[in-house]
Amino acid sequence: MEEEKKRNGLRVILFPLPLQGCINPMLQLANILHSRGFSITVIHTRFNAPKASSHPLFTFLQIQDGLSEAQIKDGNVMALLAQINLNAESPFRDCLNKVLLESKSSEKVSCLIDDCGWLFTQTVSESLNLPRMVLCTFKATFFNAYPTLPLIRTKGYLPVSDSEAEDSVIEFPPLQKRDISKVFGKFGEKLDPFLHGVVETTMRSSGIIYMSCEELEKDSLTLSNEIFKVPVFAIGPFHSYFSASSSSLFRQDETCVPWLDNQEDKSVIYVSLGSVVNITETEFLEIACGLSNSDQPFLWVVRPGLVLGAKWIEPLSEGLMRSLEEKGKIVKWAPQQEVLAHRAIGGFLTHNGWNSTLESICEGVPMICLPGGWDQMLNSRFVSDVWKVGIHLEGRIDKKEIEKAVRMLMVDSEGDKIRERMKVLKDEVARSVIHGGSSFRSIETLLNHLLLFV
Ligand code: UDX
Repeated sequence: MEEEKKRNGLRVILFPLPLQGCINPMLQLANILHSRGFSITVIHTRFNAPKASSHPLFTFLQIQDGLSEAQIKDGNVMALLAQINLNAESPFRDCLNKVLLESKSSEKVSCLIDDCGWLFTQTVSESLNLPRMVLCTFKATFFNAYPTLPLIRTKGYLPVSDSEAEDSVIEFPPLQKRDISKVFGKFGEKLDPFLHGVVETTMRSSGIIYMSCEELEKDSLTLSNEIFKVPVFAIGPFHSYFSASSSSLFRQDETCVPWLDNQEDKSVIYVSLGSVVNITETEFLEIACGLSNSDQPFLWVVRPGLVLGAKWIEPLSEGLMRSLEEKGKIVKWAPQQEVLAHRAIGGFLTHNGWNSTLESICEGVPMICLPGGWDQMLNSRFVSDVWKVGIHLEGRIDKKEIEKAVRMLMVDSEGDKIRERMKVLKDEVARSVIHGGSSFRSIETLLNHLLLFV
């Protein structure tokens, strides 16, 4: 009854891309909108379906994604997403149409909000006369480059010679020339039609929502509005309002927290490469030796499947395992936000996914950057070169480099300076989400925008 009273008579339909790094922000956005009176329907694929039972106040509708078990097992995320984009249009259209037809007379559907990575949703929503908003889970600076990425790729930055590796990419600062090949990975020109599709459909949308804030990228947000010619809403790091824990696709190992309780303040380095990145066995062993040799306590998330060709941590020899266990703890998946907020955490060795980067900033945890590709290349440059709140490994997955970076961040005086700068950045971002802050104001503008649709 209390619940019903707070509703505003409007429903928003959400459709996340089925990746952990995209599901978390979409469900956090759902919580933000729900707390402001909107009812929520989440349409989702069968692959990586969110756990409906963790969100009893929302309605979940599953659609067929047409993926075979073999395709899912293969685990190539970009290929999976391309396939779902081909398969899911018709089931999505049917589902959306049904929701609209069945919507109660007492409750209107305001709009669809879905991930910028869906290519067919704009056309479907237009055909059903439903406004569509785009959620971008990347930094706006990265999304702004979508129209120019194909050009940058052909500009001759690949392959790059040693002498010019550190030169900046004029069209895409603060990226360096050596970053460009990793942005594209093995996909190269195959990405061009995708990028074109995303830009074109975003420009036809009714607006972009960013999990970002003016304090982090004011100029890029203004530019985003100019490039895509639609309203832009940077409503802050979403987890400042609602934790991502409830939307975890993997079981979080809760034993991390009591283990951290037994460690000294700011003594532990947290290591996680997110939900998508893979590393080779050799790289895995280099990280293991680097952590062991650093002699610092560590909490290391080794996601099953992280190491190519291995189920989990079996490439570690008994001897190495023994020495790792003396100082650290290895888990399959952690309650990351809780971990980063723990007083014992002093640093984060990260792949710099945008969620992880934001979560680290919000908890004031300095980083060691080990980006795997795509937007992570840009996020890591901001961390190390612009905000100067982290150390960049420059792709050197080498035990000596890792040991050096961990000790520099956790033990040396250089680490203190980085920590001081991180404290300043943390406070600036925190101000954006409190009453009157830039993100707080953007939420109000977004809510008014959604009300205008009906
Ligand atoms: C992907 C892309 O890689 C990333 O670059 C993009 O910005 C979003 O989509 P992912 O690689 O999973 O995401 O990284 P990230 O954006 O950091 O998201 C990972 C999420 O999983 C975070 O919210 C993090 O808190 C959570 N997580 C990670 C856990 O809850 N436990 C863990 O052990 C590790």
